[in-house]
Amino acid sequence: MPTQQLEKARIFLVGDASTDLPLLARILEGVGYTPPIIITDPLEIINHYREFAPDLILMDISFLYIDGFNVLAELRAVEGITYPPVMALTRQNCQEDRLMALAEGVRDFINKPFDRVELLMRVMNQLEVHMAHRMVQNHKMELERLVQERTNALNQSRLEIVRRLGRAAEYRDNETGLHIIRMSKYAALMARSLGWSDTECELLLHASPMHDIGKIGIPDAILLKPGKLDPTEWEIMQRHPLIGAEILEDGDSDLLHMARLIALSHHEKWDGSGYPYGLAGPQIPQASRIVAVADVFDALTSTRPYKKAWPIEDAVALLQDQSGSHFDPEVVEHFMRLLPEILVFRSQNLEPEIGS
Ligand code: C2E
Ligand code: SIN
Ligand code: SIN
Ligand code: FE
Ligand code: FE
Repeated sequence: MPTQQLEKARIFLVGDASTDLPLLARILEGVGYTPPIIITDPLEIINHYREFAPDLILMDISFLYIDGFNVLAELRAVEGITYPPVMALTRQNCQEDRLMALAEGVRDFINKPFDRVELLMRVMNQLEVHMAHRMVQNHKMELERLVQERTNALNQSRLEIVRRLGRAAEYRDNETGLHIIRMSKYAALMARSLGWSDTECELLLHASPMHDIGKIGIPDAILLKPGKLDPTEWEIMQRHPLIGAEILEDGDSDLLHMARLIALSHHEKWDGSGYPYGLAGPQIPQASRIVAVADVFDALTSTRPYKKAWPIEDAVALLQDQSGSHFDPEVVEHFMRLLPEILVFRSQNLEPEIGS
């Protein structure tokens, strides 16, 4: 007798009029199996297979002789369905039948005419094995889903940490942290316009807030100095890209990798006059060339401990003036095209008025 689980198994009976499939069906139903699906048209088997995802297929050997090989191969190739055991209905003592069936990957045989008890035993055996296999399979899928979920959560928390790191660096000389919100958005907009993929733009959006993480290593006396830096102070200030790159060294994610690249080279200039290495043109990673424009535009139009905010017109004029010397001309061009959109975002993310 089938167990409750086996009773629900879907069984296909495949053959032509020469086999007494209705008799087979009656035997199986008689002991509690769900009524099997009888298929006599070879062309129908694949559609039924997709619809019902059978747990067992009983197929007449004559059918296998005609088209069995192609059909079974086709069934195996259907995705998302665990390929069920196939049993062949063979003529008694026909060695040729058996070899043929084995060659097709058939799991077991049932002799015609049917012996009721033997038939039921063999069907149950195959179903038990298959159902166990399917349970393992489902369990595996469930595990994979769980791992995926955890990975997403991990990525989320990594992003969160990274955002907080960026903000920690900002808080010292730029209390609200809005600078990095604005500049990372400008950078992502420019990257998009320059043809970066959605994934790359998103990466840049999350990586660019860490460009000044190295300012953590700069003493307050320098970072917060109200006036101009003397040469020694300036020399120390110029270490912040290298300090940042060290902090972000050996990251194992694309995000940290890009963040490190940006921290290291966001003060390089197109004409080679920047720091720390004096890289020029395309030697500078494009991500950093983009961030340079976004960062300077926002730094200029923001108040800093050492300077007042510039009017937008003046900041735009500086970008254009320095296009080809400080900045990559292509990036400036895209910045200019995006200016209306950039200004809308800026006006929605301004520092609150002091005292209000
Ligand atoms: P930051 O204040 O975030 O400025 C980022 C970049 O924006 C600067 O990189 C510079 O390219 C541009 N920028 C900002 N303000 C001005 C400005 O008034 N005029 C012009 N022409 N460009 C400006 P830079 O120069 O490599 O400076 C890196 C960082 O060094 C600055 O980041 C800031 O934290 C510090 N720093 C630079 N100059 C001074 C200064 O005179 N006094 C103090 N206390 N810090 C300074
Ligand atoms: C800041 O830390 O205040 C801004 C950093 C930058 O714009 O370079
Ligand atoms: C890219 O990811 O498309 C460019 C990266 C880079 O140049 O920094
Ligand atoms: Fe910087
Ligand atoms: Fe910045």
